Amino acid sequence: MSVLGLGRMGAALAGALLGAGHDVAVWNRSPLKAGPLLDRGARLAATPAEAGAADVVISCLSTYDSQQPVLDAASLRGRTLVNLTSGTPEQARGVAKWAASEGIDYVDGVIMAVPQGIGTPGARILYSGSETAFAARRDVLEVLGEPVFLGEDAGMAALYDLALLGMMWSAMGGYLHALALVGSEGVTPAEFTPMALDWLSSVGGFLTGIGAQVASGDYETDVSALDINAAGLAMLVETSRAQGIGTEVPATLRALFDRAVAAGHGAHAIASVIEEIR
Ligand SMILES: NC(=O)c1ccc[n+]([C@@H]2O[C@H](COP(=O)([O-])OP(=O)(O)OC[C@H]3O[C@@H](n4cnc5c(N)ncnc54)[C@H](OP(=O)(O)O)[C@@H]3O)[C@@H](O)[C@H]2O)c1
Repeated sequence: MSVLGLGRMGAALAGALLGAGHDVAVWNRSPLKAGPLLDRGARLAATPAEAGAADVVISCLSTYDSQQPVLDAASLRGRTLVNLTSGTPEQARGVAKWAASEGIDYVDGVIMAVPQGIGTPGARILYSGSETAFAARRDVLEVLGEPVFLGEDAGMAALYDLALLGMMWSAMGGYLHALALVGSEGVTPAEFTPMALDWLSSVGGFLTGIGAQVASGDYETDVSALDINAAGLAMLVETSRAQGIGTEVPATLRALFDRAVAAGHGAHAIASVIEEIR
């Protein structure tokens, strides 16, 4: 097999494959980066076409725009292309269409891990595209991380990726806002973080119930109504301003919650906010 792209992630992918005893050819625009992998037994492909001679070609470049000329040059007809470059669902579907027209078996993937996690039990990689190609290469993909197949629509992995990253960025934004708020009174991250972790795990426990309400459209609640939460967000924005810190993170949610209250969801559960999002 071969790996196109030896940045932080591509090098980790190639390293995991070598660690599992696979024969791996590697190509990178800057060939010097291949050095440590060659020391571990990888073969250097001088061109994308040389790397494209492998049965399975894994591609992991920065962007789809930088990747396409490399794929074009790789001559992949009859090969399986596993595309692990991050992109949008439409970009993934575009490459799937191109691959079909070129006679290439196409599997799109997104990596829900950092390079250091590749090949370890915590790493998960989401795939969509050709189920036949995925099933045929599953043993190889398992070396990189737990493979999860999301269906034949090649855009699905990228859609999940962006949805999950959006949750991560929101949680991180909320955490950074919280650190700034308690920090405005001298509380350190080390003091606050253990409580934040406990809290985040409690919040995680709410997701299944929220999801069920969204699925049913039944927003009745005897736990916590939206208007109480909207009032809490108003207090958070006001307190942030009074403490002299930025209000962007809670202000965005406040505007959304206020809109949902104005639309008549004040007595409903927080899940009803989705009606103002979609
Ligand atoms: N790092 C992570 O934690 C992580 C996690 C999940 C997903 N990903 C995804 O994995 C992909 C790679 O990320 P990375 O962290 O490995 O990035 P990176 O370290 O910046 O490496 C980028 C790679 O793309 C190549 N490249 C960039 N522009 C090119 C061009 N015009 N032509 C040919 N090659 C080009 C680079 O080649 P040179 O070495 O020659 O510059 C390098 O191999 C991204 O899509 C990223 O979103 C990364």
